[in-house]
Parts: sequence; C-alpha cells; structure tokens
Amino acid sequence: MERLTYLVVGGGGREHTIIRKLKESADVDKIYCTPGNGGISKDAEVFDVAATDIDGVVALAEQLKVDCVFVAPDDPLVLGMVDALNERGIRAFGPNKKAAIIEGSKVFSKELMKKYGIPSAAYEVFNDPKAALDYIRSRDSYPAVIKADGLALGKGVVIAENFDEAKAAIHSIMEDKIFGNSGNNIVIEEFLTGPEVSVLAFTDGHCVKPMVSSMDHKRVFNGNLGPNTGGMGTISPNPFYTDEVAQECMGKIFLPTINAMNAEGRTFKGCLYFGLMLTPNGPKVIEYNCRFGDPEAQVVLPRLKTDFSTIINAIIDEKLSDLDIEWDNGACACVIMASGGYPGKYDKGIEITGLDKHGQVEGATVYHAGTKCSEYAGGGFLTNGGRVLGVTAKGANLDEALANAYAAVEKIKFKGAHYRTDIGRAYKKS
Ligand code: AMP
Ligand code: GLY
Repeated sequence: MERLTYLVVGGGGREHTIIRKLKESADVDKIYCTPGNGGISKDAEVFDVAATDIDGVVALAEQLKVDCVFVAPDDPLVLGMVDALNERGIRAFGPNKKAAIIEGSKVFSKELMKKYGIPSAAYEVFNDPKAALDYIRSRDSYPAVIKADGLALGKGVVIAENFDEAKAAIHSIMEDKIFGNSGNNIVIEEFLTGPEVSVLAFTDGHCVKPMVSSMDHKRVFNGNLGPNTGGMGTISPNPFYTDEVAQECMGKIFLPTINAMNAEGRTFKGCLYFGLMLTPNGPKVIEYNCRFGDPEAQVVLPRLKTDFSTIINAIIDEKLSDLDIEWDNGACACVIMASGGYPGKYDKGIEITGLDKHGQVEGATVYHAGTKCSEYAGGGFLTNGGRVLGVTAKGANLDEALANAYAAVEKIKFKGAHYRTDIGRAYKKS
C-alpha cells in the first residue's frame, strides 16, 4: 500500500486533533501542518504560512509534494483554497468555494433552507440598518436574534433582549462594520429554544454519514452565563440526541441539505457541520459550518474506529457509500483551559506547567489550541491564544470521561487560567 503524506492547514485544537487521528492511520507516512502551534509541533512538522494565504499554501504543498491537503478552518475554505489546490492538481479534503458558502453566507443558508423546506428559524434579511430597526420596532418581540451574513470568528450572532440591545448590535454590525463586509447584510431570526446538538457529517455529495453527536458549551462561565466564546468544552455523545431524533434529522435535515446543495450545483464534499436545536416543534437548523467544529472534533474523532485517512480519500474519490464507519460506544469529554480575560483581552507568553515534553499529561489527551514552544533551555510551553488547551479524555460513559478530563485539568497550571467546571452538567437531561 502506498503511504501518504498530508499537509494540514490550521493551527488550533481541531487541527491538533485531526493530526493525532491521522497519526493512527496505517497508511499515513508523514504529516506537515501550517501554521500549527506549540503542541502540534510535537506531532507534525510545522511551517509559518498563514491558514488564509492561498498562494502560500499551494506553493508549500507543491514544495513538499504532499499527497493530500486537509483544509480545516472555515476562512480558507470560504476563500476557495480547495479550488486553488485542485487547479494545480493537488488533492484536498474540504468543500470548494461554491459549497463552502453554506457557512460563508447566512443569507445563502437561510434561503437554501426556505427553498427546500429544511426546518429552521423564521427570518428576514436586511441590507439597510434603518429598515432593520423599523422591523425590530414593529415586531416588538424579544429576544431578537441578529446575525451578520458573513464569517465573524464565531461572534456574529447577537441575542438582543430589548430594543436598545438590538439597536446597538445593528449599529455595530452594519454601520461600524465590526466584522467588515460580513456585516453588509444581516439576518433577523425568530428566537428558538431547546437543547443544542452538534452533528458533524462525512459527505461526498452522494451519501451522508453522520458522526457521533456532540454538545458544545459556548458561554464562558458555568451555568451557561457570560459572553459567547469559540467553545469552552464539549461532550460526545449528546444525551439529548436519541436514535429517534437522529432518524428524524436524517430524513428532514441531513439528506435534504445534501440534495439541495446538489440541486443548486454546489455539491458539498467534506465534513458538514449541522448546528441543531431540538425545539418543541422538532429539530431545527441553527447554523451550518463547512468544516469540523472546534472543540467538537476533539470529542468526536477520538471515538472514530475506522481508519481516518481511508475515509478522507473515500470522500475525495466519491466512494463514501462503500465504507462502513465504526465508532466506539463509550464517551468523550473535552475541557477547554483558557487565558485569563478570554473571550476579552488576555496576555500571551505565560508559562504552562504540568505538561510533559510532548505537551501531554497522563490519563488524557491534551489538544493544543493556543500554545507555542518556549525558546529557552528546558523547552516547555507558553500560552499563545485565548483558548489554550483542550484537555480530553474518554470513558465508558460520560461520567467517567468527565472525571478523567477534570482529573487531568487539575495537573495543568498557568497564571490566569480559567475553565468551566460544569462541562456536561450544565444541560442535565431531566
Ligand atoms: P452561531 O454562531 O450561529 O452558532 O450562534 C451562536 C449561538 O447563538 C448558538 O449556539 C445558539 O445558542 C444561539 N442562537 C443562534 N440562533 C438562534 C436562534 N434562532 N434562536 C435561539 N438561539 C440562537
Ligand atoms: N464549536 C462551534 C464551531 O466550531 O463553530
């Protein structure tokens, strides 16, 4: 069997997870990553080309003569990195630009769902702040959900509790342009309630194979309080996602979405992320992402038993239906350790103690999100981002996985570190 070399694009916890999973594959020879981070540099050879530098990544892939480029983050996918690689004859995992718009434009995804009858929140689109405000005023119903059309580092959604908050959000998105052109259009949506579920799905455009479910914890503080973050922890499976719900989602959401994208001439190949809310009126789509979630990947991929590289190549070759994908029956939990101040301002370069020279602790897998290697003698790791580490552990069930993850968290220290102590507990199933 030919052994493959991969270049993974990105530099967070998700990419570290992808790399560690690829390392388990019998047919993977060598893994490169750009730009990577401190922890990733222990598992892959890293380069300093930015994840959004399309020409730079194409040149690097050619120079390294890799067999496959795994484009993991949203922005290069939405910018068309896979198209640019394919044009040079380089194999790549991830959707092309035409398909990545499912995450790149909320207006596109809302219109898609409406056109094809995929359940989602009712909405209106505005390109004029005054019209948006008039609508909010006349509707007079709160909370009001206001979303920037384009990518906004996961911060483009505001749940306004009253008119003043809605007005401030519309002003900062559409007039101050805090997310740049992503705020040229906004979507104002019906507020939905219910437990949230993340379902990542492999698809080659012909068939869709959902992975095991997971649950993110987006708010920074215990009890789901405080501002939204990129995600403070995850569990898999999601206790709310029963087999019955999964069946309903397949029929009403997953297959219709794949078919809709085909019908629009935007065949999606890669990992499609369904952000769902289980409302009293059934499951509805909150958002689509065109890639693995972060930190969902950290709890889903460790449970994958089938060879990851085989799946990646089956998707690229549109032969996914030939594969039987197996998962372990246990559970997995990830606790994010973040820098003091995150998701607001925080310092970098703070020494992390408790990790071994590979950046790991016993009893867990530590996926590095924002770290760098210290240049001084003795090595070690320094903080280098808001989300620093994803401390992840498996168990026979969720209780065991959580206990293992938290036991490992206690061994790791850095000044200002904070993490939620209620991952997997905040939404107890009653
Ligand atoms: P997103 O960045 O689109 O994942 O949205 C961030 C969070 O906002 C979601 O995880 C939900 O908790 C919340 N959210 C988004 N849309 C709605 C909605 N229509 N109703 C209620 N909550 C929402
Ligand atoms: N954890 C949410 C996301 O990856 O968008």
